[in-house]
Amino acid sequence: MTTRRLVLTRSAALVGAASTGLLLPQIARAQGSKVRVGLMLPYTGTFAQLGVAIENGVRMAIDEKGGKLGGRDIEWFKVDDESDPSKGVENASKLVQRDKVDVLIGTVHSGVQMGIQKVVRDSGVLSLIPNAGVHAATRALCAPNVFRTSFTNSQPTLALGHAMMAKGHKKAVWITWKYAAGDEAFEGFKESYTKAGGTIIKELGLPFPNVEFQALLTEIASLKPDAVACFFAGGGAAKFIRDYAAAGLKGKIPLYGSGFLTEGVLDAAGPAADGIITTMHYSDSLDTPRNKQFRTAYATRFKLQPDVYAVQGYDTGQLLVQGAAAVKGDLNSKPALYKAMESAVIDSPRGKWTMSKSHNPVQDMYLRVVENKENKVLGVAAKGLADSGAGCKMG
Ligand code: PHB
Repeated sequence: MTTRRLVLTRSAALVGAASTGLLLPQIARAQGSKVRVGLMLPYTGTFAQLGVAIENGVRMAIDEKGGKLGGRDIEWFKVDDESDPSKGVENASKLVQRDKVDVLIGTVHSGVQMGIQKVVRDSGVLSLIPNAGVHAATRALCAPNVFRTSFTNSQPTLALGHAMMAKGHKKAVWITWKYAAGDEAFEGFKESYTKAGGTIIKELGLPFPNVEFQALLTEIASLKPDAVACFFAGGGAAKFIRDYAAAGLKGKIPLYGSGFLTEGVLDAAGPAADGIITTMHYSDSLDTPRNKQFRTAYATRFKLQPDVYAVQGYDTGQLLVQGAAAVKGDLNSKPALYKAMESAVIDSPRGKWTMSKSHNPVQDMYLRVVENKENKVLGVAAKGLADSGAGCKMG
């Protein structure tokens, strides 16, 4: 209630200022008032834990730098997007139109991201994507005010095919949730696996966020591939791992995946996850001072082990801190703000990364295996991997 009243008062003041030609209130707002930061994330449903990890990471990065943005205090606004694409535009509009946020941080689900993309392209509000990998956001629908700190959906799987063939798995089955994230992860897998000489004998799928895997697991057993590759994440991934083992496939048909499969689920999945090999832009066991410091600080503050989502949130916070510092808190200084973000070097727990021309991370992909509830790094599967950014024209 307080928030809404404040917004109304403020816009009334601005209308007054515009009609009298007095722009002082606007200047005061840019420099003195709080920066309005919107979080649009899933806090319920199969991706709920991912949303929490991202928010934790964002807050930790900002707090480490004094809890302000370019010297200004922060007012937070939150919307639970429920990973529901049909409410994407409406939820993003709540933050942009109603709450008048200066920056919208969100979201996890690729379909919901398309709603955010529409709202932020129309309004020009700064948009930071802390997870959703939908290609269009940094390809055909790229925009100067949109920056992604995570990945594109095909980035991890572009590093997967070669690794599977190197283990001698020549025939594979692919299985996923049928929506943009799964379909685009498949694009990366298909390209890398067939290029390495592998054959995909069947593509299986079920609608998001269904977890009735039984019939599909029975089909995999009868197809007898050399290996299975997949995209699942969050609560659904934990169930898929457990069901795969319960169906008797673990130890018989090796399971591979885009690394989200084993992120944030290792307690819930238990021993059923041991031995799963994945590719991802992060690994718990990266042996660097930066990663160790991050993991200790996160575990101490939140009493939780961080995962890739926490890292992506943390890097979103770092990017915002750097951008805001470059414009001394005036996020309306857009050309200077964008330039600072475009040239930022993010000192991430995943390793240092930079922005591609289309505003997506250029980053290393690690090959990992699950051992004792940890994603252990086996090596670098692809060095400095950039998304193609195909069709991106920044006007
Ligand atoms: C997506 O929908 O883009 C998505 C969701 C969860 C993940 C990765 C990608 O872990």
